[in-house]
Amino acid sequence: DKDVYILGIETSCDETAVAIVKNGKETIANVVASQIESHKRFGGVVPEIASRHHVEQITMILEEALTEANMTMEEMDAIAVTEGPGLVGALLVGVNAAKALAFAHQKPLIGVHHIAGHIYANRLEKEFQFPLLSLVVSGGHTELILMEEHGDFKVIGETRDDAAGEAYDKVARTLQLPYPGGPKIDQLAKEGEASILFPRAWLEDGSYDFSFSGLKSAVINTLHNAKQRDKVIKKEDLAASFQESVVEVLVKKTFKAAEQFDVKQVIVAGGVAANSGLRTALEETFADKKFELMIPPLPLCTDNAAMIAAAGTIAYEQGHRAAWDLNANPSLDI
Ligand code: KG4
Ligand code: ZN
Repeated sequence: DKDVYILGIETSCDETAVAIVKNGKETIANVVASQIESHKRFGGVVPEIASRHHVEQITMILEEALTEANMTMEEMDAIAVTEGPGLVGALLVGVNAAKALAFAHQKPLIGVHHIAGHIYANRLEKEFQFPLLSLVVSGGHTELILMEEHGDFKVIGETRDDAAGEAYDKVARTLQLPYPGGPKIDQLAKEGEASILFPRAWLEDGSYDFSFSGLKSAVINTLHNAKQRDKVIKKEDLAASFQESVVEVLVKKTFKAAEQFDVKQVIVAGGVAANSGLRTALEETFADKKFELMIPPLPLCTDNAAMIAAAGTIAYEQGHRAAWDLNANPSLDI
C-alpha cells in the first residue's frame, strides 16, 4: 500500500501549529508556535490577540513544517484542520488557511474535532486496541470517551461546570500565579503536603460526570477565611490538597469506567495529562496491567497539529471529506 501523508493545522486556542504525519502514526514534522508570552500579562487567552497572532504566524509555520519534513505540498494526500471546538476567531484562521491550501493544491480537505485530535496523539506512540477508554482533560474539556473502533467516540461522562484545566487555571489565578496556572500548581504541589481536606464531587452513584466548581470555590473560601483570621496557609499545601482532590476523582472514575466497559486500553489526553500528580496516580492505579495505560509524552499532551493530522488520517481513510463551506464551529460536538 501507498504511504499516506496528511498535513495537519491547529489554531483553536493560543498555539499556531502545523504538522505532517505519515500513515497516522509517524510524525514527520511538528511545528508549534506558542503565544503564551503575549497572553500572560492579561492572565489568560485574549481571543482577539490569539486570532491576530495566528494570522501573522500561519504561513511561516506552514513553511517551517514543510522544510522540517523536506517535502512539498504536492506530496500531501490531504489537509486536515481543527474545525472546533475552540475560539471562533482563532479556528477561522486555520480553517481558511486549510481551505486555501486544499483549493490551490487540489487536495482533499478534512475537518477534525479538537478532542479527537487529543485522543489520536496517543496513536503516534502506540497502536490502538478497542474497546478503548479515553480520559480527556484539557483547559476546555473533561470527558470520559469510549471508543469501540476508529473514529467512533461515545461520551460516557463529562464535566457539568468547569473543565479540570480551567479549575487549575482559576485556582492559580487566586494564588496570583502567572498564566497558564496548571503547570505552576503542579510544581507547587510537589513541594507541599495535602493537609487540607477539600471536597470530592463524586455526584450520583454510577455517574461518570465531573464537577470542579465546588472544589474551586472551596479553595477560594479557604484562602479568604485564612486571610481574615491572619492565618498563614502555605501555597504549596493548598496546591497539593487541591491537586489531590482533582486527581482522586479523575483516577477513580476512570478506573471504574475501565472495569465496567471492560476495555483493552486506557489513554489520557489533553493538557492536564501533563500533570505529574495525575500521571503518578494513574500509573499506580493501573499498575496491575489489567488495562493497558497510555499517557502521551509531554509535547503531545498540549495543543499541537501532529494530533490533528493523526486523527485526520483516520477520517481520510474512512472517506470523510469536508466541503468548501467547512466552517469554524466553536461548540462542535464530538
Ligand atoms: O489541551 P490544552 O493544551 O489546551 C486546551 O485544549 O484546553 O490544555 C491546556 C490546559 C490549561 O488549563 C493548563 O493549565 C493545563 O492544560 N495544564 C496543566 C498542566 N500542564 C498544562 N494542568 C495541570 N498540571 C499540568 N502540569
Ligand atoms: Zn487542546
